[in-house]
Amino acid sequence: MLNKLCALLLIISVFSGAPLYADSHKAAIASAHPLATAAGFEVLAKGGNVYDAAVAVSAALAVLEPFGSGLGGGGYWLLHRQKDGFETMIDGREKAPLAAHKDMFLNKNGQVIPKLSIDGALAAAIPGLPAALVHIAEQYGQLTLAESLSPAIRYAKTGFSLSERYLKILKVRAEVLNVYPDSAAIFLTGGKLPELYSILRQPDLAQTLERLAESGRDGFYSGATADNLVNAVQKAGGIWTKADLEAYQVLEREPVKGVYQGIKITSAAPSSSGGIVLIEALNILSGYDLQHSDELTRKHLIAEALRRAFHDRSLYLGDADFIDIPVKRLLNEEYAAGLRSSLRVDKAMPSELMSGEIKSQSEGTNTTHFSIIDEEGNRVAATLSVNFPFGSAFVAKGTGVLLNDEMDDFVSLPGAMNGYGLIGGYANAIAPGKRMLSSMTPTFLEDENHVGVLGTPGGSRIISMVLLALLDFANGHGPESWVQVPRFHHQFMPDVIEYEQSAFSAAELTGLSSMGHQLKPARYAYGDMQAVQLIKATKVLAAASDKRGEGKSFVGQY
Ligand code: DON
Repeated sequence: MLNKLCALLLIISVFSGAPLYADSHKAAIASAHPLATAAGFEVLAKGGNVYDAAVAVSAALAVLEPFGSGLGGGGYWLLHRQKDGFETMIDGREKAPLAAHKDMFLNKNGQVIPKLSIDGALAAAIPGLPAALVHIAEQYGQLTLAESLSPAIRYAKTGFSLSERYLKILKVRAEVLNVYPDSAAIFLTGGKLPELYSILRQPDLAQTLERLAESGRDGFYSGATADNLVNAVQKAGGIWTKADLEAYQVLEREPVKGVYQGIKITSAAPSSSGGIVLIEALNILSGYDLQHSDELTRKHLIAEALRRAFHDRSLYLGDADFIDIPVKRLLNEEYAAGLRSSLRVDKAMPSELMSGEIKSQSEGTNTTHFSIIDEEGNRVAATLSVNFPFGSAFVAKGTGVLLNDEMDDFVSLPGAMNGYGLIGGYANAIAPGKRMLSSMTPTFLEDENHVGVLGTPGGSRIISMVLLALLDFANGHGPESWVQVPRFHHQFMPDVIEYEQSAFSAAELTGLSSMGHQLKPARYAYGDMQAVQLIKATKVLAAASDKRGEGKSFVGQY
């Protein structure tokens, strides 16, 4: 409680606007949880930079949103350093265990065994998030890893209060969590949902974080934590070995870049599909005057551009360390012009004319994103995940670490849909040590006057959410507006536009339908976008959190 009070006082002092030091600095942070945003400012106030803040926010979210991301998961951190313009993407995506093979989720008749890649230890890939935090702290931070992890350790020890949103998400996975006693002991109360506003303490997770703080990567990937992880996974039918953990390495990759109407875009490279699909769709849209099109035509064109970019996703994208991705071609403007030649402004192109028919569904509102920028323009966009809510629902005994179920982001069988309705083939087939294809799209935008940092959870729909926000940036709006844009999505297969109720008027629904589009209302508003902006000339900062979630954004002095 005392710690919570301290955190609150810190927030008040940081956000009251009163300078704490004569040479105080300013930054903006938007994250999916108020205490994670506070953790970021806490380390900035200790003399940390935006990269230390990113470590603190990532670790805090691992404690506060165990359903969305965590030490048992992975993610992508896009970094920009203002003084020399250096940009990099930290690829902390999970990797398939070395004993994984392409048919591991199929029965003897070659059919996908339902849920095997989603629930339990076999669904879990080797986590990348702990290694990424160590890497960012060592290579880019100013503080020690221990200093940046300390707010998260405190939250894990003293606990935090469970919100309505948390319990709503927990309810979705309670049945599966109950199958695993070490998971149920942490997240359920006598097998039932805990009460609203009750306190969740995670002492085992605090200890695991402390080991990481003390020993860096060895604190997680070898020693007691690694022993506990491997023993528990093997006992539960999983295939991890100590060699898997020892072999895990984060990678630095060159982000993908594009330009749309003078806006420079920097986004996630493979092993995420996010940046390529985003820029390919924008290149297609560059051939039209969206700003002066009527709304119906505009929305039709966006859906058609997404259809074509997601088609290429299913054909070409996967882990670039394992397959050759024709990145240059996919991002080429002439290639986009070729795709435009099949696009009619008055008619939908049935996806089955592009490829075989696949039926599907897509749900899910977890994973997490945060955005940070300081007044100099140094920035981080990070999207982190354990895939489904509460990942595989499996906690390795004694670690407090919920393991991911990212194995489901691979293609278990060519043409068969995954949990997000996505299809693919060889490019994203399972192989030992391979990273599964992601849709996470942490993104920087920059025009003459503004810098924007944004991203969101939402599975395959992440990419269309970022695209719609980017078009809103292009229309001259700020982050409050980007995060609220009504959403719609097309992903080639299933051949349907999924939409939030507010995205289309009745006339637009009729219009889209008569153009040949299938339309499916989303069951609920989706995504949880977190965005910040810097106005370059005045150094004025702004930040916004999606009203669909419970995130908190602040512009503060430290
Ligand atoms: O990497 C991916 O694309 C997915 N594992 C992300 C999952 C996600 O965003 C869940 N939220 N709905």
